[in-house]
Amino acid sequence: MARIIVTGSDGQLGRSLREYREQGEVRYLNRRDLDIRDGASLRNILKEEKPQWLINCAAYTAVDAAETSRTLAFAINGEAVRTLAQICKETGTRLLHISTDYVFGGTGNLPHAETSVVHPEGIYAQSKRAGEVAVQDSGAGIVLRTSWLYSYFERNFFRTILRKCLAGESLRVVADQIGTPTWAGNLAQAIWHIVEGVTPRAGLYHYSDLGACSWYDFACYIRKLAGTNNCIEPIGSEEWKAAAPRPHFSLLDSRQSRRELNLGAVNWMEGVECCYRALLQYENGTYFEREYK
Ligand SMILES: NC(=O)c1ccc[n+]([C@@H]2O[C@H](COP(=O)([O-])OP(=O)(O)OC[C@H]3O[C@@H](n4cnc5c(N)ncnc54)[C@H](OP(=O)(O)O)[C@@H]3O)[C@@H](O)[C@H]2O)c1
Repeated sequence: MARIIVTGSDGQLGRSLREYREQGEVRYLNRRDLDIRDGASLRNILKEEKPQWLINCAAYTAVDAAETSRTLAFAINGEAVRTLAQICKETGTRLLHISTDYVFGGTGNLPHAETSVVHPEGIYAQSKRAGEVAVQDSGAGIVLRTSWLYSYFERNFFRTILRKCLAGESLRVVADQIGTPTWAGNLAQAIWHIVEGVTPRAGLYHYSDLGACSWYDFACYIRKLAGTNNCIEPIGSEEWKAAAPRPHFSLLDSRQSRRELNLGAVNWMEGVECCYRALLQYENGTYFEREYK
């Protein structure tokens, strides 16, 4: 029987969790194994396995597409999470659910504490907020907010920028949104530390890498690691014309959470370096060669 169940395990966070704990005591369920909207199957799995924890990495994460897929975004990020939290409560499974810095929109330039007032702009952010409320209402476990997640797996800012730098492409990158890039490897290690440590109180926590930068700064740092000299032009959000609004300042103040959960953290640049080094070693280096050389 699995002590821990991970849902949405084929996403970048799910895959990062797996890098540190293989199948065994942990059972990884991707979308084909379990669609989190299927409450009956979830209930059966939890009754059979009786896990201590369920780590929910499943989410609708297409921020721009959500603007025209409201029903789907809320079904996965809101309603399914409500049912999942209720089933966890019923079966005595502790829930660790991931949320986002995007619940903080509007103006302001101070880091957001766990108690700060949220202002989710855009459908993705609002649907994720609905999930937070659902978990908190249930008392089933913890909501862990993180920010600007990236990894060496497919489809994320780090991989896209690196690929374009190595291809010598000129880039235009938004410079007026400030946040903290967080390597999914660091978040994964923090999550293992939480679920394998002293049981935390139910509630809301923050965890991200440390420091602040814009997407433009992030891209320039990736270019530095790649050792290329392609042009990266800083642009404003209005020039990028994304379908969904994004916060101009979404720094998470994670000091209280890190104290309470006894978690360390590193500066975002160190996170990017670790991710880059890990990418070089991924699949004994063949991955990098295949993709970029
Ligand atoms: N990415 C970021 O920048 C960021 C920042 C802050 C917080 N977060 C949060 O961090 C968590 C993990 O994000 P991530 O970056 O790892 O996302 P991701 O790579 O998009 O992974 C999400 C996973 O959820 C799966 N999924 C979608 N709908 C599902 C459903 N109905 N049932 C079961 N699985 C389903 C997806 O499967 P398919 O691939 O088959 O669709 C995918 O494998 C999410 O809660 C996200 O909101 C992300």
